[in-house]
Amino acid sequence: MYKPKKFDTDNFLSSLDLKKEEILYLLELAKNFKDKQSSFKVKDKVLGLIFDKASTRTRVSFQVAMSRLGSNVIEINRNTSQIGRGEPIKDTARVLSRYCDALAIRTFKQVDLVEYAKWFKKPVINALTDLEHPCQALADFLTIKEEFGGFKNIILTFIGDGNNVANSLIFTGALLGVEVRIACPKGFEPKTSIIKRANEINPNNSLKIFHDPSIAVKGANVLYTDVWSSMGEESESSIKDKNFEGFTVNQDLINRANNDPIVLHCLPAYRGKEITDQVIEGKNSRIFNQAENRLHTQQALLACLLS
Ligand code: CP
Repeated sequence: MYKPKKFDTDNFLSSLDLKKEEILYLLELAKNFKDKQSSFKVKDKVLGLIFDKASTRTRVSFQVAMSRLGSNVIEINRNTSQIGRGEPIKDTARVLSRYCDALAIRTFKQVDLVEYAKWFKKPVINALTDLEHPCQALADFLTIKEEFGGFKNIILTFIGDGNNVANSLIFTGALLGVEVRIACPKGFEPKTSIIKRANEINPNNSLKIFHDPSIAVKGANVLYTDVWSSMGEESESSIKDKNFEGFTVNQDLINRANNDPIVLHCLPAYRGKEITDQVIEGKNSRIFNQAENRLHTQQALLACLLS
């Protein structure tokens, strides 16, 4: 039976906070939790949830994970707390340090998350920022591992905007030695700093950028997409829809992979835009297994960070 082990990091602000061996260990522990082979508890801890954006999967999976570990969650809503009034992060974080054992934070700027971590002297977890979505990537790679048994020779093609979800896939893929391809329109590539860092971690040319999705998917084992307009970008959605014409994951794109790939989407989806209804409900989709794996991977993450 796998038991939680202490990571070198106290926080999970970025996919790069964990080492390759730590990710592999966490995925095994998550699988143990999923298969009910571990009933490990961290009693009487409290996870504070600060969510500045809407969430279903991340919020509920953190709540259920803490419950399964024998611990509790408190929601710190910006509208009913003093966060919405503009209390400085350094004050909020220091006070919450006296009450809570960990924080999971969904906010806009990565620098705000880093500021929380500076003043909150216990684990802080990135529950999505504009830069990264590292908890999502853990669930994604557990889903891939379940499907293929490991990561050797796996090609993951992400079709969409080169932002937070893509960035965490790029980093986790680089750590695990997975070839990650990004297919996006010109002007929507991941930031140069993200590409540079991924190439430093894995110099074996494992990250490739494409502007034609039909070429990017050739031979891929995993096709992955996300909404074209992230939360906070709603006003740009009609422009983005135009930019992303031709980037819909549909049956034709699956066929072009010529490898019977699995299809992932972090959800929520706009059916008919970045992915068709038929693909979400089709035989290649592992989207709801992927969503379930948010729970098991976050339970494993919390067990390691809190024990
Ligand atoms: N994938 C994801 O983060 O979903 P939520 O926005 O519902 O948490």
